[in-house]
Amino acid sequence: MKQERFILDTDPGIDDALTILYALASPEVRMEAITVVNGNCPMKQGVINALSVLELLNASSIPVAAGMDRPLVLPVVNAEVTHGKNGLGYAELPTPHTKPHQNHAVELIKDYVLENPGEISIVAIGPLTNIAMLVRLYPQVVGKVKHLYIMGGAINHCGNMTPQAEFNIYCDPHATHIVFHSGIPFTLVPLDVTYQTLMTEEDLERINQVHSPVSEFIVKSSRYVMEFLSESQAVKGCALNDPLALAALFQSHLLDISHLVLDVDTNQGVSMGKTFADFYNYEQKTENGYVALDVRARDFVELFIDRMIEISQ
Ligand code: BDR
Ligand code: CA
Repeated sequence: MKQERFILDTDPGIDDALTILYALASPEVRMEAITVVNGNCPMKQGVINALSVLELLNASSIPVAAGMDRPLVLPVVNAEVTHGKNGLGYAELPTPHTKPHQNHAVELIKDYVLENPGEISIVAIGPLTNIAMLVRLYPQVVGKVKHLYIMGGAINHCGNMTPQAEFNIYCDPHATHIVFHSGIPFTLVPLDVTYQTLMTEEDLERINQVHSPVSEFIVKSSRYVMEFLSESQAVKGCALNDPLALAALFQSHLLDISHLVLDVDTNQGVSMGKTFADFYNYEQKTENGYVALDVRARDFVELFIDRMIEISQ
């Protein structure tokens, strides 16, 4: 089987950690490297989390590179309330032995892409600061990235950070603007679909039956975000935001995807970070991106849970 090769750009983060697990459990893909950005937790903590999760899975040969520790223009925003003090909810992993890669995340992505033109996709599941820096510093990568999958935005859905904005995009709307208009082919996986893919208490119980350090990690981390979503947004389950963006890379049949004119509000007003699609193409622009607007939600959750059980054994 030809594996889809990709780099995971992430702000680990509970559902980010689940995405690392999903990648390692999926023979259809090969995760070449992990690059870290500020988001759910401060960038340095994100690096520790990525290394710890890889060690838990005996996958420390995958390089982890530190990236941008703040947005391009705006002050740092983190999400302790959603992801807990260390970013992994109730889970506590040992301090990792492995060290991060010596290169900056942006350099590492650039090297992979230029050495393997047209072969490497990027799955970006945090704020887009690293990817915007990549585009600005090395515009020659634009035609050479196979495809960029982005977890972010809310098109016909309310926000989860403000009434209109989703967290990743809200953290760095200026980076989002650069990426949306860069010419890199991209697919946005917004809250419209990710808030349909809910891992339930019963799903978690199935994983819990395995009794291993990995299943314990999944349960303890996911339970934290579940409680947060239930209390603050009356959402019953753990939204699989980031894992669904990875699914877009190799299970795109689960998603209904449209090619549209996509943009983001960078003005510092009430809709800062709002992503929108020009469905009627009022401005007669050429479509710049793909966006997932519907999903076979339960099919995806079942596939995801099966792989979580497999990797826990
Ligand atoms: C996104 O924000 C983060 O909190 C999650 O990890 C996900 O990437 C969802 O809005
Ligand atoms: Ca994330």
